Amino acid sequence: MAGLCLAAAALLVATVLSKYKKSPEQVGSQAVCLALGLWAAVCLISLSLFWGLALFSLSCLLMYTYLSEQEWLPVDQKAVLVTGSDCGLGHAICKHLDKMGFTVFAGVLNEQGSGAEELRRSCSSRLSVLQMDVTKPEQVKEAHSKVVEKVQDKGLWAVINNAGIFGFPADGELIPMNEYKQCMAVNFFGAVEVTKTFLPLLRRSKGRLVNISSMGEITGTSDMWEMHEKKILEHLPREVLADYGEDYILTLKHFLAHLLDTASPDFSPLILDVQHALCAKHPAAFYSPGKRAFLWLCMASIFPTGLNDYLWKTNATKARHMPRALSLPNRNKAM
Ligand SMILES: NC(=O)c1ccc[n+]([C@@H]2O[C@H](COP(=O)([O-])OP(=O)(O)OC[C@H]3O[C@@H](n4cnc5c(N)ncnc54)[C@H](OP(=O)(O)O)[C@@H]3O)[C@@H](O)[C@H]2O)c1
Repeated sequence: MAGLCLAAAALLVATVLSKYKKSPEQVGSQAVCLALGLWAAVCLISLSLFWGLALFSLSCLLMYTYLSEQEWLPVDQKAVLVTGSDCGLGHAICKHLDKMGFTVFAGVLNEQGSGAEELRRSCSSRLSVLQMDVTKPEQVKEAHSKVVEKVQDKGLWAVINNAGIFGFPADGELIPMNEYKQCMAVNFFGAVEVTKTFLPLLRRSKGRLVNISSMGEITGTSDMWEMHEKKILEHLPREVLADYGEDYILTLKHFLAHLLDTASPDFSPLILDVQHALCAKHPAAFYSPGKRAFLWLCMASIFPTGLNDYLWKTNATKARHMPRALSLPNRNKAM
């Protein structure tokens, strides 16, 4: 029986090791082998044969699953399209993928702009800048023709829907209707237009579609805040302005400043997740780059809605005042 258990443990070690050798970081195979051997010994000696083997098998299964996720496909100059590459994350993703050896199509809002110029100047000759306002179907079609012409039989491996605009996180009633429409036009319908146009190419290559969206970290700049604040004050009906109070509206940007203070300027967690989505043999269906992002998502999906509302309210009131009507005790039920 002991011999059988040892043989099973050895088989598990060999299986994990063969997977480990296929992963990109295959340093110290002997050390991994030794560590697994020691862990098998600890399991088998400290527990009964059955439970020891069960625990060791479970550890090997977890490690095997983890290593499967780390198996890379070759880059091999595969072609990738990124939207919204003028600046920010899209710009950084283009540069990173270009460095890795991908053939990058950088879709930009303004092909004459400084972001597009910087990509042409600093990246390899494999990178092409494409004029591509995702809200303009004719520009998306034109970009598609250029991609087809360039990739020919090699196909398109991935589309990264990154283009997005900032929505001022004010109370829903305060946001002008045209801002809702513009946000949907770029962040939603733009991504749908690009996806529908390029899906046949992705289907042929059995490639990847990556959609980038925001939970609200996207904060914009102080100039943008001033502009949004001005638009809100200009378009608000007098009665609504009286209920919220101008001083409340002027403090909305304090919440953004608070978000900006706590946000990380480091794009690398997102870039590494995009790299994994494009290169891993078994990509995940969903990524949440940044530690706190996962926490927020857990809270939103696990906690009761009432508790989430309470936490948001407490957090928001710390950073700004309440609307005037809500701070008047006899009018609390009116809003
Ligand atoms: N930054 C964050 O913390 C964060 C967090 C979570 C998710 N995200 C998501 O990541 C994506 C990029 O965000 P970011 O922070 O890099 O924002 P950003 O710096 O404002 O970049 C967005 C890019 O999209 C471009 N764009 C705007 N409208 C477009 C249109 N109609 N067609 C094509 N391109 C257009 C912008 O061009 P212009 O610069 O010329 O306007 C810009 O290059 C967004 O989808 C956002 O929701 C960001």
